[in-house]
Amino acid sequence: MEIPEAILKRKSIRSFAPKGLTDEDVEILIQSAIRAPNAGNIQPWAFVAVRDRDIKESLVEAAHGQSFIAAAPLVIVVCADPDRTAPRYGDRGITLYCLQDTAAAVENMILTATHNGLGTCWVGAFDEGMAAAALGVPRGIRPVAMIPIGYPDQDPPPRPRRPVSEVLHRDKW
Ligand SMILES: Cc1cc2nc3c(=O)[nH]c(=O)nc-3n(C[C@H](O)[C@H](O)[C@H](O)COP(=O)(O)O)c2cc1C
Repeated sequence: MEIPEAILKRKSIRSFAPKGLTDEDVEILIQSAIRAPNAGNIQPWAFVAVRDRDIKESLVEAAHGQSFIAAAPLVIVVCADPDRTAPRYGDRGITLYCLQDTAAAVENMILTATHNGLGTCWVGAFDEGMAAAALGVPRGIRPVAMIPIGYPDQDPPPRPRRPVSEVLHRDKW
């Protein structure tokens, strides 16, 4: 089996053409996100699709001035809800599963975006409290990733990866 094209084609895009995204585009992205595997099928995620310029600027501020976020026509902020995972899985649910669940959702979403000709960048460097305030998310909900999305205005070369021979251990480390 070969590595699917979208996995090979995906790379972080930080410059976007002005063309906007439709509600249907957003629906397709979220449909793909919610198909992700997740612990106990608890689905401890929520998504805020941001198009509003002022809110995008607040997200830039939360993200320590990463201005390309506001240049994207759409930013999807992926949120985790540890309170959903806690009753069944306790600490491991709070500190690990709900973050893994949302990460799987992000990956599904950005691969679907790539497949549909869109560019994305997974942004994790931001102040959670500031992002939560900008979005008005309820207490206890954690914004864990910002995904600026739009038609790419750049085609950077693929960033290098450590080779399989360096990262793969067979049977034992
Ligand atoms: C958890 C996580 C956090 C990241 N945070 C940022 C970020 O705050 N700003 C940014 O520009 N890129 C961010 N990135 C993107 C990485 O820099 C990028 O994926 C990496 O350099 C490899 O490049 P590629 O995505 O083009 O393959 C983040 C990626 C991940 C998975």
